[in-house]
Amino acid sequence: MEQEILTEDIGGEYVGVRALEDGVTIIGLTRGKDTRFHHTEKLDRGEVMIFQFTEHTSAMKIRGKAEIFTKLGTIKCGKEFLD
Ligand code: TRP
Repeated sequence: MEQEILTEDIGGEYVGVRALEDGVTIIGLTRGKDTRFHHTEKLDRGEVMIFQFTEHTSAMKIRGKAEIFTKLGTIKCGKEFLD
C-alpha cells in the first residue's frame, strides 16, 4: 500500500543556512520510504537562505563551510571546524 504522509505531522520546521565560503551546497532529500536527492541549491559566501521541511523534504545534506540555524541551536558545518 502507498505510504500515507500526513501533512499535519510534518511540522514545517524552518532552518537558516549562512554560507561562509563560495559554493556551499544544500541538498534536499525526499520524505518517505525512499531517500533520494530531489533539489540542490548553491550559496556563495555571505548568502543566506531559509528552508522549510515539507511534505517533499524530510532531510537536508549540507556541504561546505556554513552556519546552520535551527530550533535546537546553531551548527557549524565544514572541515575547517573539525579539530
Ligand atoms: N526518506 C527518509 C524519510 O523520510 C529520509 C530520512 C529522514 C532519513 N530521516 C532519516 C534517512 C534518517 C536516513 C536516516 O524518513
